[in-house]
Amino acid sequence: MTTPRTVLITGGAGGIGQGIARAFLAEGERVILADRDPDAVASAADALGADALTFDITDPAAVAAAFASLAAAGTAVDVLVNNAGILSVHGAVTELAPEAYRSILEVNVIGTFAVTQAFAHHRIAAGGGGSVVNISSIGGRQPTPGMGAYESSKAAVDSVTRWAAIELAPHGIRVNAVAPGPVLTPMLEMGMPEGSPARQAWASRIPLGDLAKVTDIAPAVVFLAGSGAAHITGVSLAVDGGQLLT
Ligand SMILES: NC(=O)c1ccc[n+]([C@@H]2O[C@H](COP(=O)([O-])OP(=O)(O)OC[C@H]3O[C@@H](n4cnc5c(N)ncnc54)[C@H](O)[C@@H]3O)[C@@H](O)[C@H]2O)c1
Repeated sequence: MTTPRTVLITGGAGGIGQGIARAFLAEGERVILADRDPDAVASAADALGADALTFDITDPAAVAAAFASLAAAGTAVDVLVNNAGILSVHGAVTELAPEAYRSILEVNVIGTFAVTQAFAHHRIAAGGGGSVVNISSIGGRQPTPGMGAYESSKAAVDSVTRWAAIELAPHGIRVNAVAPGPVLTPMLEMGMPEGSPARQAWASRIPLGDLAKVTDIAPAVVFLAGSGAAHITGVSLAVDGGQLLT
């Protein structure tokens, strides 16, 4: 692959999306941040030196229009990072409202699928090649009470990863995932300052001793998107300080 590639990162206004953008920019790649929040994505892109796009991943027409406008401008997207996701739905299996469950599946699963589908069309029209990295979660493999709606959405993201990987391999398109444990985004750090009981409770589950920083996650995304991972497709790489071992 030639440098610079064009990397589209959904949820690019958020904590992990910006961290992934920084890592690709440091490699000399061109980055387009996409988000449903127009002001946040514009200011994040400005601050980082990236381009910005606004669309909601749950709106297939908007997703298709975004890829069509990129193609019309002569921009070929080489790498898609499906990072947009919502974590905000909590509830026990005895209590969670089906509508709340549906809302998280709509964003995390159908949204990830919709952008992957549009990217696949975009790459196949360009003659194939390219790479997708989905941001999953180890929650898809290890349950925490009250988080099953989110966790089952991420189990589905891992499954969509394998589904797309096997079908897109003949087109030279690789599809992988990075599955973080809890990540200290600026937002999470505010809610769980160092020394707080919540932070200690999470850290005690992690053999390597603390939650991930955004800079622990981004290199795994860059690796899976790059030529060093040319023979890797369909994996979901846990970046969790060993939490899945416990
Ligand atoms: N923070 C963690 O501890 C953690 C752990 C494991 C996995 N993850 C995953 O990492 C990803 C990013 O998480 P984050 O912590 O940076 O969250 P965040 O809330 O800071 O960022 C998410 C971004 O996605 C955008 N977004 C949400 N729904 C969208 C939609 N329908 N269309 C377009 N954009 C949308 C939001 O506007 C926001 O900017 C998510 O997929 C999340 O599930 C996070």
